[in-house]
Amino acid sequence: MIERIEPLLKEVESVLISNSDELEIFRLKYLSKKGIVSQLFEEFKNLPADQKRDIGKPLNVLKSTAEGIFNSKKEELESNSHSGLQGIDTSLPVYLNQPGSFHPLKIVENRLIEIFYSLGFDLSDGPEIEDDWHNFGALNFSEDHPARDMQDTFFIGEHVLRTHTSSVQIREMEKNSPPFRLIMPGRVYRNEAVSSRSNCFFHQIEGLYVDEGVTFADLKQTLYYFVQQFFGQGTEVRFRSSYFPFTEPSAEMDIWVGTDTEENQRLTKGTGWLEVLGCGMVHPNVLKSCNIDPNKFTGYAFGIGMDRITMLKYGINDIRDFFHNDLRLLKQFQGE
Ligand code: PHE
Repeated sequence: MIERIEPLLKEVESVLISNSDELEIFRLKYLSKKGIVSQLFEEFKNLPADQKRDIGKPLNVLKSTAEGIFNSKKEELESNSHSGLQGIDTSLPVYLNQPGSFHPLKIVENRLIEIFYSLGFDLSDGPEIEDDWHNFGALNFSEDHPARDMQDTFFIGEHVLRTHTSSVQIREMEKNSPPFRLIMPGRVYRNEAVSSRSNCFFHQIEGLYVDEGVTFADLKQTLYYFVQQFFGQGTEVRFRSSYFPFTEPSAEMDIWVGTDTEENQRLTKGTGWLEVLGCGMVHPNVLKSCNIDPNKFTGYAFGIGMDRITMLKYGINDIRDFFHNDLRLLKQFQGE
């Protein structure tokens, strides 16, 4: 009998009781008339006297321990019930509230909107499924321009998944008349090999300013301002001449990130410069396509690669990380 009492004592001491139901189960099992302790006392009565001496003490310890646990738990639960906690399992671990966060791309989009708002730009957007005219034709792409090739564009019958946000320029200029001062953020699609640096969809923010007497100097100054605001005062930039069918002259803008770290070397292919946008003066043919007189109005446009600048700003090395929704990444942006 003694060898049954010892493990029972351990068992009684380790029972978890966190509500009144569990307390009742404990009572029935150990302390009720038909409970384990009473049964042991029944057996005890029939033992020969010499054994009673050895067993009486541990048996009483078992009984008083079980009673002690029962009484103290009972008291504890009753006092909790007075404070309104009855039925609430206060022993469960605490899960702190986990507020959501903005996606890093959204944080950057919001920041860009803020910066361009402060310069008097308004916000607009357009459809991701476009027709050939808005994505290409009105933007002065000739019929045989290589960018229309299946290699770059996802076609959906007669339509395309827009390859850039420049399509929104056309939609705006067709609808309204100058002046225009707009930014147009959105997702774009290209049939490109997926890697850490490029994805088959990504994000741009298009800028358009059309009015009388707008010059390339205005464009440069606006972009300088954006860079200083977004990346910090003193960030170096350079313009390289480039080609887009819808702007003339055209340029690309790089920012200096340096070659000091391995990461920056990789990002800039060893040059220290990272291309962040394409820009230029709106081509007269584009204005004409939208029934705007190019002799009266001039304008500039730019398209900033949002994924790129987000990667740079937050040190994200792989563009695909934006689309995995890994909470370990997203949680780092809580409160931003
Ligand atoms: N649409 C161009 C691109 O996707 C970028 C651009 C926008 C260039 C506006 C000039 C003016 O690469």
